[in-house]
Amino acid sequence: MKDILTELENRRERAREGGGQRRIDAQHGRGKLTARERIELLLDEGSFEEFDMFVAHRCTDFGMEQDRPYGDGVVTGWGTVNGRMVYVFSQDFTVFGGSLSETHAQKICKIMDMAVQNGAPVIGLNDSGGARIQEGVASLAGYADVFQRNIMASGVVPQISVIMGPCAGGAVYSPAMTDFIFMVKDTSYMFVTGPDVVKTVTNEVVTAEELGGASTHTKKSSVADGAFENDVEALAEVRRLVDFLPLNNREKPPVRPFFDEPGRIDNSLDTLIPENANTPYDMKELILKVADEGDFYEIQQEHAKNIITGFMRLEGQTVGVVANQPMVLAGCLDIDSSKKAARFVRFCDCFEIPILTFVDVPGFLPGTTQEYGGVIKHGAKLLFAYGEATVPKVTVITRKAYGGAYDVMASKHLRGDFNYAWPTAEIAVMGAKGATEIIYRADLGDAEKIAQHTRVYEDRFANPFVAAERGFIDEVIMPHSTRRRVCRAFASLRNKKLENPWKKHNNIPL
Ligand code: HXC
Repeated sequence: MKDILTELENRRERAREGGGQRRIDAQHGRGKLTARERIELLLDEGSFEEFDMFVAHRCTDFGMEQDRPYGDGVVTGWGTVNGRMVYVFSQDFTVFGGSLSETHAQKICKIMDMAVQNGAPVIGLNDSGGARIQEGVASLAGYADVFQRNIMASGVVPQISVIMGPCAGGAVYSPAMTDFIFMVKDTSYMFVTGPDVVKTVTNEVVTAEELGGASTHTKKSSVADGAFENDVEALAEVRRLVDFLPLNNREKPPVRPFFDEPGRIDNSLDTLIPENANTPYDMKELILKVADEGDFYEIQQEHAKNIITGFMRLEGQTVGVVANQPMVLAGCLDIDSSKKAARFVRFCDCFEIPILTFVDVPGFLPGTTQEYGGVIKHGAKLLFAYGEATVPKVTVITRKAYGGAYDVMASKHLRGDFNYAWPTAEIAVMGAKGATEIIYRADLGDAEKIAQHTRVYEDRFANPFVAAERGFIDEVIMPHSTRRRVCRAFASLRNKKLENPWKKHNNIPL
């Protein structure tokens, strides 16, 4: 009996060695942790339960039958993050470069199936040379099996991808279908075709980092939702994100203990809005002053900075925040900000996370770049996302809410539950000057007259009261009491029930 136990221990030891010390050293030499070290940092200490430690590939081509390491290049299982269950796979670059074989894919599929069945998030730590070249089409089939599960799990359990090494070719499409992608700066990249193919086909000379590094994907392409300095920081931040999320679409988000008075007054908010309507101010200040303990987890911080998206807690409950940022492009909506916010709103609605919207929007960005780029279709994404969302929706207009953008930003007309405005709000078809120049075109040569008309228009429309008269604004509130108001609003909506008509699925303008 003792021998058998020793045998098991020996086999486990071999599995833990992965691709051997030389390759582990090489991994460390690049500033990367191993697959198992990453899991240890991601999960609560001692909580990891491994599956399929002894799985080996079945390939017999290219002499592969001589080399059948345990685990086959991916460590899979489940554990907890602050006591809450998650499923995890972590690709082991030290074994065949973490490449995906038929059996490697089966291991991932097994934990994804369990995650959907048991209602817990899937976290994938990606570090892989892509399809296992020796296995050919069996490997492609394995990818497709994972893709299909990503699709089925979407909206059922949260899926988070962390890119911690190479992720290229069709392999990128699994992370691409998950809810959040995070990257590690300098050691990870994602692209469909690498620099060599790019050079051959388009003659462009580009490095892997320029083509698909963390900076490219967090700033330009928006493929990634965030980038971190190293593996340790990335994994710690994923733990922080998991704390905000429900385990599945049938559960409410977790409620954490909070140490911040829901009725906390912040008098500094009364002077947040500058005297001049064209002077920017930092919307993040409002977000941080409203959130429990000033804690805000921003998503896509580096992309489309004219809109802010992320998670906060109010009375310990997760709330998704969408806010125009007047510091960038005056906070206008454009293609990128509409897409960014629409995807975020849809994530919140999938997982029953209430949405808080702060509005200061002068309209949609004009120009041929926007129109040729399809701002009509992309702007409609955000409109559609807000309109279909059935979660509690609370909106606060701080300053401008002009034109179509007023309607889009979680207005009353899109089933907003509480629509508040600060006294500084200006709800109108457009800014006063633009409006008078259109209505009084005949007076355009007379600056005095135009100024006079502008003042009249401002007096009439540059306030929240016209909208409040019609009930489009439920209440004009004091800026200093914003936290108290929104906390009470969300508290009153905890039992909200709203269902959309039955349909197979909608046809959001993609
Ligand atoms: C099998 C692989 C492999 C792969 C790497 N290795 N990629 N084995 N299949 N796809 C092995 C190497 O042989 C090597 O083994 C070890 O992993 C480390 O690789 P190195 O090349 O030494 O490491 P590095 O210099 O860091 O380069 C990493 C790399 C490179 C950039 C990922 O290995 C590479 O270009 N690999 C091929 C990538 C590729 O073309 N994949 C197919 C993409 S198409 P030893 O024994 O020496 O340690 C694809 C389609 C998916 O993925 C389609 C889905 C629909």
